[in-house]
Amino acid sequence: MAKRVSTVQKGKGLDVGTAFICCAEKKGDDIIFRTQRDAFFDIEHTDFTKQMLTKTKVNYIERGDKLYVVGDEAIKFANIFSKETRRPLSQGIVSPQEKEALPMVEVILKMVVGKPKYQGEIIYYSIPGEPLDADFNLVYHQNIFAGFLKKMGYQPKTIQEGLAVIFSELADEDFTGIGISFGAGMVNTCLACMSVPVFSFSLTKAGDWIDQQVAKALAETASRVCVTKEAVLDLTKEKGLTKIETALSIYYNNLIEYVVENIKEEFERTKNPPQLDKPIPIVLSGGTACPKGFIERFKEVFKKVDFPLKVGKVKMATEPLYSVAKGALVAALSDEENK
Ligand SMILES: Nc1ncnc2c1ncn2[C@@H]1O[C@H](COP(=O)(O)OP(=O)(O)OP(=O)(O)O)[C@@H](O)[C@H]1O
Ligand SMILES: [Mg+2]
Repeated sequence: MAKRVSTVQKGKGLDVGTAFICCAEKKGDDIIFRTQRDAFFDIEHTDFTKQMLTKTKVNYIERGDKLYVVGDEAIKFANIFSKETRRPLSQGIVSPQEKEALPMVEVILKMVVGKPKYQGEIIYYSIPGEPLDADFNLVYHQNIFAGFLKKMGYQPKTIQEGLAVIFSELADEDFTGIGISFGAGMVNTCLACMSVPVFSFSLTKAGDWIDQQVAKALAETASRVCVTKEAVLDLTKEKGLTKIETALSIYYNNLIEYVVENIKEEFERTKNPPQLDKPIPIVLSGGTACPKGFIERFKEVFKKVDFPLKVGKVKMATEPLYSVAKGALVAALSDEENK
C-alpha cells in the first residue's frame, strides 16, 4: 500500500511572547508547534567552556568576552548556577533595559521559525495591542521583528495577540467574541465581530507581575514564586493553603478584576459599539490562565461587574499556550491560499 505523505503547507504563525516564542505550521491535518524560552544566560568566555558547549551542541553565541546560551538551555544553565536568566523582551516588547536583547532574539527566532519553504513565505507574528497602562513604542518592536523575519526570507505580517486567540478558538462563532491572552508580561484583549477587531488593547500586569507582587509581599524571590505557581497552584483550593498559595490567589483575583474592569471601560469608550443579536462568547488563553480553577475565578469576578454587553459562554482555549501561534497560522494559511 502506498504510504500517505503529509505535506507541510505554506504559511507560518509566530507567537512572540515575553516568556516563550512559539511557531506553528500545518503538516497534513496536524499543527506542529516549536517553542523556545525567550531567555538567555551569559557565562565567562574561556576556550574550555566554548569547547564544552560546542561538543554538547548547546545553542550559544559569542559576544565580546561573554558566551550567551539562549532559549530552553538558558534555563538549565541558570538552574545549575542558581542565577536568573535574562529576557530579551519585557512586558511584551523588546526590552529597553537589555542592551544585548537583539542578537539573542534573532538566534531564538532562527531556532523556532527555521527556513522558509520558499522565498517570501508568509509568516504572521503576534504584536501587543495598544498599551492602556504603559507608554512604550510598539513601532520599534514591530519593525525589529519584521526586519529579522525578512532577513530570514519571509514576508512578515502582524496580528494582534487578542485577535489571534479569536482566530484560533472562535471559528465556530464566526470569529465573533472576546479573546483574552493572559501571558507573562501582558494581558492582551480583543473584541472582534466577524473577524474584524472592534478594539484591542494590552495591560502590563500579568504572570510576571503576579510573581513580583507575591515575592515582595513574602520576601521571596520571584523565580521561586513562579516555580510554585506553575507547579502546584490550584485556584479551587480553599483550605490548607501555604503562604505563597494564599498570596498567589489574592493577586490572581486582583489581576482578573483589573482586566475585566478595563474591558468594560474600553467597551464604554468605543464610539460605535457593534449591535449584536446574540450573546458574545469569551475565550481565555495564555500561560497565566493555566492553573486549575482559573475559569471559575474569571466567571466569579465577571458576574460582579455590570458589563455593558450580553455575554454568552466563557471557555478556555483548547491549548492555552499555543493559541496565539495557532491563530497567527490561521491568518497565514488563508493568505497563502489566496495569493
Ligand atoms: N501551569 C501554569 N500555571 C500558572 N502559570 C503558568 C503556568 N504555565 C505557565 N504559566 C505562566 O504563564 C506565563 C507565560 O505564558 P505565555 O506563554 O502565554 O506568555 P507569553 O506569550 O510568553 O508572554 P506575553 O504574551 O505576556 O508577552 C508565565 O508568567 C508563566 O509563569
Ligand atoms: Mg503571549
